[in-house]
Amino acid sequence: MSKAPNFNRLALIYRWLEYLTFGPFLHRCRTHFLPHLEHCRNALILGDGDGRFTAALLRFNPAIHVTAIDASPAMLAALRKRCSPSISRLTTQTADLRQWAPDPSALRYDLVCTHFFLDCLSTEEIAAIAHRLTPVLAPNALWIISEFAIPSTAFGHFAAAPLVWLLYRAFRLLTGLRQQSLPGYPSALTASGWSLQSQIPQLRGLLSSQLWQRVS
Ligand SMILES: C[S@@+](CC[C@H](N)C(=O)[O-])C[C@H]1O[C@@H](n2cnc3c(N)ncnc32)[C@H](O)[C@@H]1O
Repeated sequence: MSKAPNFNRLALIYRWLEYLTFGPFLHRCRTHFLPHLEHCRNALILGDGDGRFTAALLRFNPAIHVTAIDASPAMLAALRKRCSPSISRLTTQTADLRQWAPDPSALRYDLVCTHFFLDCLSTEEIAAIAHRLTPVLAPNALWIISEFAIPSTAFGHFAAAPLVWLLYRAFRLLTGLRQQSLPGYPSALTASGWSLQSQIPQLRGLLSSQLWQRVS
């Protein structure tokens, strides 16, 4: 298996790179479904990088415990710093999620979150992760996703597709990311019993916030 991309060098500037390129839109995507997460108690956050979503979730829901997993120690250090007011409700783990398996004795997760992380993986890798998560999920668990998308419109063809291509090339140069196209994560999640409940397009469909629920 190839090495996981290395986001360590980007950890401290990631937020500023994002604001310079997309302004507030990525963060709006991440937090769109936050009001639906009031009842959640045990969240698994995969590839949250510098932790802006984790910090927002811990602030919004004072009863939740978060397990955050990422391959980058520098990103996780930034995440822990950002979440320091709620550190007692946070567990972090450095791991390549393509090889990670959840502890079967762990509490059942009622929430999974992936923001701009699934695009680092192939469809097969996402399917394998979704499959491995199944035994540690609570009934009716939620999964919130933020992702780039290429809508089937003229905007999608002439603007979104070249932009996504450019982003992948930039991340290959900066981090060694091998995946170079958007994966088919909806089919991978559906195959593991997840059902799409709601999706909100942003920036003319270039971005998508999604709420999934496990139905079987
Ligand atoms: C594009 S960044 C997104 C970060 C954050 N979720 C956000 O919304 O900005 C992708 C993150 O996923 C992590 N990552 C990428 N591939 C990974 C893998 N195979 N295993 C674990 N983490 C990975 C990177 O270290 C990075 O923090």
